[in-house]
Amino acid sequence: MINIEHLDKTYHLKNADVHAVDDVSLHIESGQIYGVIGYSGAGKSTLVRCLNFLEIPDSGSIEIEGFGKVSANQGSLDISQKKLRELRRSIGMIFQHFNLLDRSTVFDNVAYPLKYTGLSKKEIETRVDELLDLVDLADKKYVYPSQLSGGQKQRVAIARALSNNPKVLLSDEATSALDPDATESILKLLRDLNKRLGITIILITHEMSVIKSIANRVAVMENGKVVEEGDVYDIFANPKEEITKKFINSSSALSNITKLIENKTIIPTDSKLVKLTFTRDSVGSATISKISREYNVDVNIMLANVDVINADALGGIIASIEGAKENVQRAIDFLHESNVKVEVIHHA
Ligand SMILES: Nc1ncnc2c1ncn2[C@@H]1O[C@H](COP(=O)(O)OP(=O)(O)OP(=O)(O)O)[C@@H](O)[C@H]1O
Ligand SMILES: [Mg+2]
Repeated sequence: MINIEHLDKTYHLKNADVHAVDDVSLHIESGQIYGVIGYSGAGKSTLVRCLNFLEIPDSGSIEIEGFGKVSANQGSLDISQKKLRELRRSIGMIFQHFNLLDRSTVFDNVAYPLKYTGLSKKEIETRVDELLDLVDLADKKYVYPSQLSGGQKQRVAIARALSNNPKVLLSDEATSALDPDATESILKLLRDLNKRLGITIILITHEMSVIKSIANRVAVMENGKVVEEGDVYDIFANPKEEITKKFINSSSALSNITKLIENKTIIPTDSKLVKLTFTRDSVGSATISKISREYNVDVNIMLANVDVINADALGGIIASIEGAKENVQRAIDFLHESNVKVEVIHHA
């Protein structure tokens, strides 16, 4: 469990102050994959760097299971240096640009954090072999980072981050430099590690597709603040803040409708263009054929999409509903009653 309360961090620059983390409070359960999303400069990296005290917060507190609550006061922490070292060792971290030692082999990169832990040479070798097996890189033990693909480099970085058996893994844009295939394989690895080791993962990204594919909960950050937070499925089904809607749109096939609307001829006269969202409560029923039959309207489905988020289906349809005005309205009312979310996006 990680409990963040009223965390604040301001950078004092020559001509301005930057409030990078502004009164952030979050609760993260053990074993969760917790996503933090936001645009560039939102304060995501600063927030996670505060979690392992690479960055010292100005004020607020962080409680990490097994370490009690650590409070910050004007840039100093109420924790001994010894405890702080232990705490840092229990948190692994991976980055966008891997941060590997280029002149060291894969083996030496992964062995590096084990150097001063009192393990013998033999024990270190056994541990590194285990870690390389875990990330499926046993055959690359003696190669150098320059001989690896981006995805493989990130696997080395993950193995290194796990060397001290951390309880928490922080991932700061770990897939941002990777192509879609490598991204998917790294996300799959993180999912597996979360399941097999029970490790809590806090994952920063600016891509909603990453959140959708891996996270259980998500916090949306803007200007240092958390503006929306919740279960990933609920946030996708019912986003409240404009910025959250924007992020969701960016990862949705349905957003192509804006291009279609520009070409107005595709929207029939006497019709309403609607976006329908089918959640757990409505995704299984034949609502579209029902309204067509019972209210004598024609439904033209223009775009449709089903996402599976945390094993639950979330459906979206963009359709025009055509017919006599009162029939169209009654059809829309019926959709509402059937737990289908209806947003009218265009009147013909
Ligand atoms: N060491 C620093 N000194 C001064 N200002 C900083 C420092 N680190 C970050 N900032 C500022 O704090 C704000 C938040 O930065 P941060 O790196 O946390 O954002 P981010 O959400 O991680 O962005 P990105 O997606 O680009 O990585 C930015 O305005 C940034 O310029
Ligand atoms: Mg960042």
